[in-house]
Amino acid sequence: MSSGVLTLCVCVCVSASVPQFTNSPTMIVMVGLPARGKTYISKKLTRYLNWIGVTTKVFNVGQYRRDATRSFNSFEFFRPDNEEAMKIRKSCARAALKDVCDYFTRGLGQVVVFDATNTTLERREVILGFAKENGYKVFFVESICDDLEIIAQNIKQVKLSSPDYKDCDKEEAVADFLKRIECYKMTYIPLDDNKDRNLSYIKIFNVGSRYLVNRVQDHIQSRIVYYLMNIHVTPRSIYLSRHGESELNLSGRIGGDSGLSPRGAKFASALGTYMRGQCISDLKVWTSHMKRTIQTAEALGVPYEQWKALNEIDAGVCEDMTYEEIQEHYPEEFALRDQDKYRYRYPKGESYEDLVQRLEPVIMELERQENVLVICHQAVMRCLLAYFLNKTAHELPYLKCPLHTVLKLTPVAYGCKVESVFLNVEAVNTHRDKPVNVDVDREPAEALETVPDHI
Ligand SMILES: *[C@@H]1O[C@H](CO)[C@@H](O)[C@H](O)[C@H]1NC(C)=O
Ligand SMILES: *[C@@H]1O[C@H](CO)[C@@H](O)[C@H](O)[C@H]1NC(C)=O
Ligand SMILES: *[C@@H]1O[C@H](CO)[C@@H](O)[C@H](O)[C@H]1NC(C)=O
Ligand SMILES: *[C@@H]1O[C@H](CO)[C@@H](O)[C@H](O)[C@H]1NC(C)=O
Repeated sequence: MSSGVLTLCVCVCVSASVPQFTNSPTMIVMVGLPARGKTYISKKLTRYLNWIGVTTKVFNVGQYRRDATRSFNSFEFFRPDNEEAMKIRKSCARAALKDVCDYFTRGLGQVVVFDATNTTLERREVILGFAKENGYKVFFVESICDDLEIIAQNIKQVKLSSPDYKDCDKEEAVADFLKRIECYKMTYIPLDDNKDRNLSYIKIFNVGSRYLVNRVQDHIQSRIVYYLMNIHVTPRSIYLSRHGESELNLSGRIGGDSGLSPRGAKFASALGTYMRGQCISDLKVWTSHMKRTIQTAEALGVPYEQWKALNEIDAGVCEDMTYEEIQEHYPEEFALRDQDKYRYRYPKGESYEDLVQRLEPVIMELERQENVLVICHQAVMRCLLAYFLNKTAHELPYLKCPLHTVLKLTPVAYGCKVESVFLNVEAVNTHRDKPVNVDVDREPAEALETVPDHI
């Protein structure tokens, strides 16, 4: 493969706002016994990296095995002395590596997460050799856990719903899985502080009670380490809500810093009632620095914290305008925004892409905290929601976040459960879908076709 192709790709397909201190692709390689949360970490880390604009994909070797064998693999399959099976597993790992190479060569992304279970020295040598040959950087993430309670939880929560066990009895499945772990233990050699001292890695002990970090090579690896040290698995819920309806929403104006309308005030009090009904003793409440979120939080009668980073997207020269006025004064800008709403930046204002960068510290703190209510704004809520629900940059600016509706997010297995709770206080609709015609020379009526009603 020519490194010229790769360099070119990095320049073309990478988001402008994430600093590109790395110019070679990165392989993140998971290490650890089964049921140590490797797939959980792989998926979560990938979701985060994609959200901040670093295109990343998971290659799960177990999935290759399932596709290759197409039948149930009991623990017998995983015994180190099962030569036939070992051949299959080796060839699956090879097939996955080949796909990794293909992924980078075609410029489809900058990072892959290699989610494999075979944790021997030999397999690591193979991966390191492969990476060296192709000019990839390797960062190992090893999850070590000897807390039987956590392992049992993991098996119950995720492994039993895995395709491997879909037609099995639960008790038998757990027993089989424990035997599978024993098979891996026979050849498992953890990363060694001394022998592996030249490698880049993080070891995570007992789901984050302790970490060991070795030879971080670059910006992206340091972001990964920082992220992995902030996440936790304590059950909790995150509540996302916009402020109550504002005076400016009533008249269909964007931006500005107005207070709540009478219906907005009613929502604020309904939100207080709803949150008290959730019976959370340690609830944190966050707002932006804008009047409408602060007035909403005030009605809850609990302490809250103000974040400037949660302020609404800055619409620059279009602040305080209606969509009709934007079309009248800046028809071309209006069309450009419709063409690429994620990257479009308002003159003297921000884009959604800028907003994601501004919100990254908020996400990091949300990961560290437990129960939090975030009272924010339409564009801000779309960015936060996209992170939790794994939405693409393309989908993000059109996510539906209506006024007077709380979204309750609860982490489950590999994703998030969402409950959408409308609190029964009417409000104006502020959602504008992408119009059919996005050309700069479209007619005003075509530009305004999807503008919601207002007075
Ligand atoms: C892992 O794969 C290597 C070959 O790459 C093989 O020698 C070893 O026995 C395997 N280990 C396990 C636990 O399957
Ligand atoms: C680590 O790298 C140094 C310098 O390249 C080398 O001399 C040393 O043998 C390596 N150590 C191990 C354990 O691979
Ligand atoms: C609703 O009003 C607020 C200002 O009060 C503004 O930030 C927001 O953009 C408005 N939403 C729409 C789509 O009109
Ligand atoms: C996240 O979305 C991507 C596509 O955008 C998909 O390939 C991936 O499987 C999703 N991850 C999860 C955990 O759902």
